[in-house]
Amino acid sequence: MGALPTSATVAVIGAGTMGAGIAQVAAQAGHPVLLYDAAAGAAERGVQGILRTLGKLVDKGRLGADALADIRGRLRAAATLEELAPAGLVIEAIVENLDVKRELFARLEALVAADAILATNTSSISVTAIAAKLGRPGRLAGMHFFNPAPLMKLVEVVSGLATSAEVAARVHATCEAWGKAPVHAKSTPGFIVNRVARPYYAEGLRLLGEGAADVATLDALLREAGGFRMGPFELMDLIGHDVNFAVTSSVFAAYFNDPRFTPSLIQQELVAAGYLGRKSGRGFYDYAEGAPAHTP
Ligand code: NAI
Repeated sequence: MGALPTSATVAVIGAGTMGAGIAQVAAQAGHPVLLYDAAAGAAERGVQGILRTLGKLVDKGRLGADALADIRGRLRAAATLEELAPAGLVIEAIVENLDVKRELFARLEALVAADAILATNTSSISVTAIAAKLGRPGRLAGMHFFNPAPLMKLVEVVSGLATSAEVAARVHATCEAWGKAPVHAKSTPGFIVNRVARPYYAEGLRLLGEGAADVATLDALLREAGGFRMGPFELMDLIGHDVNFAVTSSVFAAYFNDPRFTPSLIQQELVAAGYLGRKSGRGFYDYAEGAPAHTP
């Protein structure tokens, strides 16, 4: 099955870190795009943020002014879920919680056409479980982008037990048409990348808890000597601690509380404090204007 035609509307639900980036990718690929978020004003802020980002690309000569004008005409914030009814592909990027995702997809299924594809950007939750309550579970696949979505090429195309081969193939082809490098994966906890990445965060957090060194030192060491693009603490700040903690908790539960995946109390405290990382202005580091670059 080929890629979704560019005339098909793509709806993105959740205008946070990932949803806004995914909406940008779909809009740049030529689709009409609707961005929806349950929080008042968030979708509109998301659209404005995308247009600002694209405006900077125009200034740098990496995007034509005509292309930006085109995108401006095709990218819209939706005020209600009902407005997403014309979508041929819906990509969900809301909170990492099975019940909330299931409830959203149940509402969506009643709204969209019978052949519309439903996709989840979940990092770790079973695609099989998210689809299980649908009338047509075969139409749902994982479409797991990486952060920042406009820059990262990899997308894990995740099949649950019921995902139809046609839907997985169409999602895969659509990712390719969007300039991404999709990889098929079966729905296992954390899929491929998030599973392999768990020990990176966990050992970093354990070292910090044991007082081995401060976050800036550990990050610099792994970046400069370890060859990682980002250290574990700056990466967790980018991802968002609420999201990263929810992912670890979900992988831990899915592997029957295997101690290898035990979530961190340090991270639990950050979430409790609302220190979610870049998106809240503070995590392991302080992102407030004028703040020192590192707050160990
Ligand atoms: P975020 O916290 O930045 O944004 C989530 C957005 O969803 C918020 O704007 C919130 O208002 C909205 N929302 C929550 N519940 C909603 C509902 N029921 N209906 C509509 N909107 C709702 O979260 P982020 O980081 O964008 O993560 C979203 C999803 O993407 C999660 O499943 C996460 O696991 C996954 N993901 C996150 C990555 C990351 O690096 N942050 C990377 C890849 C996947």
